Amino acid sequence: MKTACVILAAGKSKRMKSDKVKVLHKVCGVPMIRYPVQLALKRGYDPVVVVLGHQADEVKEYLTREFGDSLRFVLQQPALGTGHAVMVAKRALGKARGKLVVLYGDMPLVDTQELAALERAGRNSTLAFLTCRLSDPGKYGRVLRGPRDEVLKIVEHADATKSQRRINEINTGIYMMDAAWAYKAMKNLNRSNAQGEYYLTDLVESCAASSKTVKAMEVEANSMLGVNDRVDLAKVEKAMNLRLLHAIMASGVTVLDPGSTWIGPDVKVGRDSVILPGCHFFGKVRVGKACVIGPGAVISDSTISSGVEIKAYSVLEQSKVGRGSQIGPFARLRPGTVCGQNTKVGNFVETKKTHMGNGSKASHLTYLGDTQVGAGVNVGAGTITCNYDGVNKHPTVIGDGAFIGSDTQLVAPVKVGKGAYVGAGTTVTRDVPDHALAVSRTRQKNIEGYASGRTKAGKKE
Ligand code: UD1
Ligand code: CA
Repeated sequence: MKTACVILAAGKSKRMKSDKVKVLHKVCGVPMIRYPVQLALKRGYDPVVVVLGHQADEVKEYLTREFGDSLRFVLQQPALGTGHAVMVAKRALGKARGKLVVLYGDMPLVDTQELAALERAGRNSTLAFLTCRLSDPGKYGRVLRGPRDEVLKIVEHADATKSQRRINEINTGIYMMDAAWAYKAMKNLNRSNAQGEYYLTDLVESCAASSKTVKAMEVEANSMLGVNDRVDLAKVEKAMNLRLLHAIMASGVTVLDPGSTWIGPDVKVGRDSVILPGCHFFGKVRVGKACVIGPGAVISDSTISSGVEIKAYSVLEQSKVGRGSQIGPFARLRPGTVCGQNTKVGNFVETKKTHMGNGSKASHLTYLGDTQVGAGVNVGAGTITCNYDGVNKHPTVIGDGAFIGSDTQLVAPVKVGKGAYVGAGTTVTRDVPDHALAVSRTRQKNIEGYASGRTKAGKKE
């Protein structure tokens, strides 16, 4: 029988002091709710029910975009506590007969390891839950144990006595329980406590008081960090980032300075690539083998083939870079840039919706927008495609093997033919035929003696 899962995400999250619901705040570039949802699906839990409340529409829309129809949603309004949230989920669970796992939407660091431990503990007990020890147990619920170390109950911080508050074993809020038993037991929950809420934690006491088995499984505290405020958010971000970096390092990538390198969960880097300090990777990024990236590169939603160098302080968005290419330093590849193999996009070059054919180069100070550059083209320093007439954008086409001299303006729409040559300083307003030379500057004239007495050099004479 499949294990069902309820993910609690209806809370108001007041302490974030935010107009945005907590679970949509990002951890390593993605809304934090994605982590527990993805984990639940990965563990094969079915159905996975998400309990929504605050900004339910926004959260549902995001999760549907990300996970299609593999989730069920219920609305908990008003939010009357964690016990209430699980009760509300009942109608989406259908006939709950097997095990039920409860996760929180604001604990993104919980991973396979912890759930495997929970499942082990839950297999032969009516109720199992994860605990950990904290030197500062703060506002968490405390685990009360009897003389033989058996679990008696969970006491919420707000309801705890002074001596109970000294207990440093806390309830993480992650449980596995017999669903049928739990839904029967939940009928007896009440709100006579300090917070006037239905506490899911009260199930522990009712389980322990009956002849059923309840098991508390202690796990490492690191993965149990939840997000309650912005300070927690920064801690979780750092821990998640380090975890993701450790995974790519384990797969054979050198990360020189993990403390200054930031990646997301959808970043893949090939073996023997080297990431220099200060790089940021957002969204879906693929980096091939034996690349050198950085320092200070910012790369989002891009694909970089093997053997590519992305040099210092380059910025790439929605771009593709072919094998053996060299980008930067200080290059900016905007959305729709596709570089073929062995291309070169050098310093202070900006590209947008531009294809660079194999072996083509734009090495210095250039803007290429809406441009098709053939193979083996050299674009000289200071070349600008004038792709915008104030109303519309127009394309520029540069044929294979063409040579564009420095300080050229290509006024689009315009075509430069194969093997054509554009003289330096030319403003190209008409198509250039294959193998032709285009020059538009006026012929130079020299006026003898004109500068005598006007320049410093002239005065000396
Ligand atoms: C709860 C536990 C506490 C545990 C702590 C761990 C209870 C009564 N207490 O504390 O023992 O140490 O978690 O973090 O369960 N939520 C809903 N609907 C609600 C209330 C909460 O969906 O009506 C969600 C929140 O969005 C959040 C999670 O449940 O994701 C936990 O809620 P929160 O209020 O942070 O937990 P506490 O009651 O403080
Ligand atoms: Ca909490």
